[in-house]
Amino acid sequence: HFMKSAHREWHGVKLMVTAGPTREKIDPVRFFTNRSSGKMGYAIAEEAAARGADVTLISGPVSLPKPQGVTLVQVESAAEMFAAVADRFQQSDIVIKAAAVADYRPKHTYEQKIKKQDGDWSVEMERTSDILKTLGKKRTHQILVGFAAETENLESNAKQKVESKRVDIIAANSITAPGSGFQGDTNELTLYTKDGDVIHIPLTSKKEAAGKLLDTAMSVYRKSKA
Ligand code: CTP
Ligand code: CA
Repeated sequence: HFMKSAHREWHGVKLMVTAGPTREKIDPVRFFTNRSSGKMGYAIAEEAAARGADVTLISGPVSLPKPQGVTLVQVESAAEMFAAVADRFQQSDIVIKAAAVADYRPKHTYEQKIKKQDGDWSVEMERTSDILKTLGKKRTHQILVGFAAETENLESNAKQKVESKRVDIIAANSITAPGSGFQGDTNELTLYTKDGDVIHIPLTSKKEAAGKLLDTAMSVYRKSKA
């Protein structure tokens, strides 16, 4: 079959994908989260599985069905996502971090629902760990792909993330460009590689964008094995 032979090099490749938002609890009824739908990460996982990769999808809370043929690990918080990713990092060949991980979480989480009182309330926030940056420091053979969600200065911020996170590819995503970003079924991406290549993926379905991103990841992986 043509498609199968075209993607033969994906067979048996261990791919870990993260997707969706994280959810950072304040109390049993309240949390902080973000606008990520998980669609881009799920499209990557699904397309890679169709190509024959051995896919593990680490997902924050989303309302999407489990893609066929992937191992799904559901998490809530940034800390849970960190633990799930760290557990499976050593045995991964390629890691694609499409998740929109919270940068801050409430410093205290309460066991009981906080009752409202007269006057204002402020919640103290603390930083979460940067999962991708930690992987960048710990990597041995793994190919690392991150995303950059930006509202301005897309190119300079993305290039900076390639360096600071020590990844092979940053997929830069303008979350304000029409048809692009968090909620819809389409996306426009620009891939920045650590070798200085710039690959533009014009506005298309998230499925097709996923395929093109996987093509670039595979070419970096192939080179790393050569
Ligand atoms: N990321 C991560 N862990 C975090 C925050 C981000 O692994 N705690 C990953 C995301 O999954 C993404 C990449 O880092 O692949 C870039 O995320 P982004 O939010 O664009 O960048 P940040 O480094 O968090 O910087 P900022 O939000 O300030 O732009
Ligand atoms: Ca961030």
